[in-house]
Amino acid sequence: MTTSVLVLRSPQEVADTAAGALVDLLGEVLAVQDRARLALTGGSLGSRIWASVLAHPGHAEVDWSRVALWWGDERWLPAGDPDRNDTQNDAAGLSRLPLDPATVHRVAGPEAVSSAQEAATAYAQTIRADGGGEWDVVLLGMGPDAHIASLFPHHEAQRVTDAITVAVHDSPKPPPTRVSLTFEALRRSRSVFLLVAGADKASAVASALADDADPWDTPAAGVRGRIETVWFVDEAAASHLVHE
Ligand code: 6PG
Repeated sequence: MTTSVLVLRSPQEVADTAAGALVDLLGEVLAVQDRARLALTGGSLGSRIWASVLAHPGHAEVDWSRVALWWGDERWLPAGDPDRNDTQNDAAGLSRLPLDPATVHRVAGPEAVSSAQEAATAYAQTIRADGGGEWDVVLLGMGPDAHIASLFPHHEAQRVTDAITVAVHDSPKPPPTRVSLTFEALRRSRSVFLLVAGADKASAVASALADDADPWDTPAAGVRGRIETVWFVDEAAASHLVHE
């Protein structure tokens, strides 16, 4: 299990480099498996990466019809709402990939189910039915408070250990109601890619990479890939790291 930190010059270079790594990894995975399983993220970089994937010449070699998608978290808003992570990912380029709509698994919104808990339960069923909750790649953005997915510092949603999804209420960042994968689920990935840019993230990056980091305070410290964890960070976000 390796953890590496790639320091890049700009947010664009973060998106481009992560997109290249994702395309390469999907090619490797699909060479030996029928299907690749990917959990996506919201945030500016979580969307920007899709334009970078489309611009990467290798994306045409990937058999996207064999890539199954979920989201690491979703804001519990109606389908198509511009503040949903999936809507933003689609607008940034995801919808232009030749995916199989049957394996693009979205979180049901309030127009379809009566509660975020119901959405979380249904979402868990889609995960169990296809792959059993094992990911090849989990993409994560990180907030300045070090939250990942919708697991926020000192929030009880972090404590859920008997489920792969959780309904999150009273999120400190709007909107207040969300559905998230739990740590239990996020940790079941071959690779975890964290996409982070901006000086406002510098302290959280340093905290998450510290040996004694506690996920309760710093959720980003709580997810590692089974094989690799790769931090794609720009120079501003890396500015509090101590170079050895
Ligand atoms: C949310 C956001 C959030 C986002 C991070 C990183 O759920 O409210 O999606 O979790 O992923 O804050 O965002 P940036 O990539 O824009 O820094």
